[in-house]
Amino acid sequence: MIERIVNAATPDDPTTVDIVEEEFEVKLRPHDFANYIGQDRLKKNLQLAIEAAKKRGEPLDHVLLYGPPGLGKTTMASVIANEMGAQVRITSGPAIERAGDLASLLTNLQDGDVLFIDEIHRLNRTVEEVLYSAMEDYKLDIMLGKGPSARSMRLDLPQFTLIGATTRTGALAAPLRDRFGHIHRLEFYTPDQIGKIIERAAGILGAKINSDGALLLAHRSRLTPRIANRLLKRVRDYADVNGDGIIDTVVGEKALGLLEIDELGLDPADRHLLEAIIESYGGGPVGVETLAALTAEERSTIEDFIEPYLMQIGLLERTPRGRKVTHKAYKHLGKQVNATNEKLL
Ligand code: ADE
Repeated sequence: MIERIVNAATPDDPTTVDIVEEEFEVKLRPHDFANYIGQDRLKKNLQLAIEAAKKRGEPLDHVLLYGPPGLGKTTMASVIANEMGAQVRITSGPAIERAGDLASLLTNLQDGDVLFIDEIHRLNRTVEEVLYSAMEDYKLDIMLGKGPSARSMRLDLPQFTLIGATTRTGALAAPLRDRFGHIHRLEFYTPDQIGKIIERAAGILGAKINSDGALLLAHRSRLTPRIANRLLKRVRDYADVNGDGIIDTVVGEKALGLLEIDELGLDPADRHLLEAIIESYGGGPVGVETLAALTAEERSTIEDFIEPYLMQIGLLERTPRGRKVTHKAYKHLGKQVNATNEKLL
């Protein structure tokens, strides 16, 4: 698959994580609520819970964060740990292969520490079951040996806070979901918030951008900080090579034109998806499996990474009978709603 600049996902396989990209993100990450832009309702709720937990001298209840990728779940976990005055350990569901891996992570925590498990819906069942008593009673149940001589042992664990992140809560087993005290959805940001995030990032990187330039990039960042910061980096390169290093609307337009990212932040793959629904399926409804075949994307890629933004900006609708494009999508693509394709709109 071609690497898309507007893809908010991080690479799936931890061994192929792009170190440069990851360092770039870490550098721009806010460390406290005061510097975290957006997600105001979530921040308010968590600030209250953190203050209360600190006052009582207790660990914070476990937190489940869900929503599309790139909206700041990992960042929020680090901020929570920092606000609690604790350390954060970051891992992911697929990286914890055996119960022993989880045991070693848990026994190495200190009281109050935060364990962040990204893609928690991808934990395997055995590991998940170990997590239940760890979350509920801060106990670790482990089996020693196999067969008739096997014995079980219960170890005390430090009073930690688990922060789980997932793109879908539906994929989480109910017993796991029920063990989280706080369950919060991360929302898409507004263009103004993304504009502020870009200006903040530019300040850290020493990039020169005016506020109109920041807003232009914001409108094309799929309302997602991870993509905004990535676009900033690319447009800054363009400004340094082809201009005087200052990112304004003229430079922004040219650089994004070169990257084929349009005014709504869609790239050729998004446009291809929408066009395919219009041209081949009369605007829909069409099943997600068919769309996956049509675009050579995995079903989960379409559901988790492509569709949420297209739905957020009103270009696509999910119906029980499949996906449908909206009139706004026709308009955006410069297509007429005509007799052949308007039938099911
Ligand atoms: N960088 C990435 N996400 C951010 C956020 N929500 N606030 C500030 N800077 C960010």
